[in-house]
Amino acid sequence: MCGIVGYAGNKQAAPILLEGLSKLEYRGYDSAGIAVRDKDKPVSVVKAKGRLSKLVEKTDEGHAVKGTCGIGHTRWATHGEPSEINAHPHISGCEPKGGTITDDSGVVGVHNGIIENFQELKDKLLRHDYKFYSETDTEVAVKLVDYYYNKYGIGPIDALAKTMVRVRGSYALAVMFRDYPGEIWVARKDSPMIIGVTKGESFVASDVPAILKYTRNVYYIGNLEIARLTPGDVHFYNLDGDEIRKELTEITWDAEAAEKGGYEHFMMKEIHEQPKAIIDTINASVKDNEFCFKDINLTPEMIRNFKQIYIVACGSAYHVGVAAQYVLEDMVRIPVRVELASEFRYRNPILDKDSLCILVSQSGETADTLAALRLAKEKGVRTLAVVNVIGSSIAREADDIFYTMAGPEIAVATTKAYSTQLIAFYLLALWFGRIREVIDHDRCIALLDEMRTIPAKIEKILEDKERLQWFASKFSNAHDIFFIGRGIDFAISLEGSLKMKEISYIHSEAYAAGELKHGTISLIEDGTLIIGVITQGALYEKTISNMVECKSRGAYLMGLTTYGNYEIEDRADFVAYIPKTDEHFTTSLAVIPLQLMGYYMAVARGLDVDKPRNLAKSVTVE
Ligand code: AGP
Repeated sequence: MCGIVGYAGNKQAAPILLEGLSKLEYRGYDSAGIAVRDKDKPVSVVKAKGRLSKLVEKTDEGHAVKGTCGIGHTRWATHGEPSEINAHPHISGCEPKGGTITDDSGVVGVHNGIIENFQELKDKLLRHDYKFYSETDTEVAVKLVDYYYNKYGIGPIDALAKTMVRVRGSYALAVMFRDYPGEIWVARKDSPMIIGVTKGESFVASDVPAILKYTRNVYYIGNLEIARLTPGDVHFYNLDGDEIRKELTEITWDAEAAEKGGYEHFMMKEIHEQPKAIIDTINASVKDNEFCFKDINLTPEMIRNFKQIYIVACGSAYHVGVAAQYVLEDMVRIPVRVELASEFRYRNPILDKDSLCILVSQSGETADTLAALRLAKEKGVRTLAVVNVIGSSIAREADDIFYTMAGPEIAVATTKAYSTQLIAFYLLALWFGRIREVIDHDRCIALLDEMRTIPAKIEKILEDKERLQWFASKFSNAHDIFFIGRGIDFAISLEGSLKMKEISYIHSEAYAAGELKHGTISLIEDGTLIIGVITQGALYEKTISNMVECKSRGAYLMGLTTYGNYEIEDRADFVAYIPKTDEHFTTSLAVIPLQLMGYYMAVARGLDVDKPRNLAKSVTVE
């Protein structure tokens, strides 16, 4: 996920690009850059690492870069760490000096998406004497456009079409050709991009908020289509170079709603982004049913020799660890210990050198998790980070990295990062299980296939969200909510309970269902809400019995189980169903209604869902 913006008109482009990028920072914020061309003069490219404010400062709010046509980018790193050299725009020419390029490059471009076969394309271009200065897939795309442009000499449409045919993956690409000053050329497949027009001006952007200040009239460019933007005019083409006619659409959202993609809160937007984030995370590590973990250098011998796995994390990332423990122990038959980072670091742990310590963190900056990582390394234990933010401290210091592909997560309450962390563990469990011969080839393929059905099943759960909204509003004045479950269902309960308390401020607790009778059941009184999570067949009757024990003490029962278990309706007062999947993967589905419950409770109580009181997105102090 990254943000792109472009302007072709009669005003100075740089301030417009910076303003547009400021509305897209939610799509990425590790570096930013702009490229502006002043008529037929050489293009100027300025980039800066860090938040957009660095680029604003460096360009004197855009006034230092002259020209009426330009493209800009705010980056969320996927290939290559966040740095000035890896920041977009990229050029077809030589290595930039000092981050500010004034170079007569044939093609300059920005890109959002992932080019899966970038290595193969890079090798091809290296054979044709292209030199590369960055680690990005985008530089490869820009140079490929240049290559086809020069090879065939028929013009931008042909160069872009040939590039699109060769590239595998997703992209929204905006480029400027030296030979076509004042114009922007764009191409798209599976990454968002809209084009806006008004009198004498044209705009391109990843999302509506970037251009809403200038125009509400937009075109939606389709998959595998190309567009040519000149000031106030846009033409569309298909891969054959035939012109396509399109209708303008008027945007009626207000600016704030537009930034959240039409959702009321970032949390809801991110809940809906989970299917895509899961697909991206699977596709980044599995090619043709083979595992390919780009940043993990563990050898089969190491994996066979591990005697113990530690999973260390905080908050929701810790809850992922609790779920992963069940999956790993079952699929890999290796002992797993899950620890809160803030406890682990101070308990002088005895760590076996033949073990693997897995640190889980969305931000990669959580102070306790970082300290736990350093401690494990000090004790000579191999460390693997499951991290979302590329180039973060935990990613930099760990021996091996599994990058989740959730994209930037803005809401404080994690949803899509949590879901992709689960996927990371399923994949690691399958890989380790294969190597240690606990899982055979056919079962592994069958489980991978089942994993690929998770996104569609999440979509199905989301289709029924209004029922949960109704139920949540009915209980929005609750004082205490108990989430109970056994095994993996207990892990799901932990996350459901945290989602509830952190954004709705309702006291809630997660309990291993079998533990209730050892004390907590005395808290149950008339109307206390019990949410029983029951996705594991073998534990179904046991958890139901624990729920019924609470009901006989006055509790109101909500059950969360899979379609088919309809007899639960005789005992629970309200039931939410999820589709069936392999029982190792049920966390990925069962967590969705619980995220929605927390969300709707908070909304019903009129609270600030995205920024709950007393909390920060990244906890960099202990
Ligand atoms: C969950 O919704 C919270 N925002 C919080 O528990 C979070 O998971 C925890 O602070 C860990 O953060 P990290 O993943 O960035 O390390």
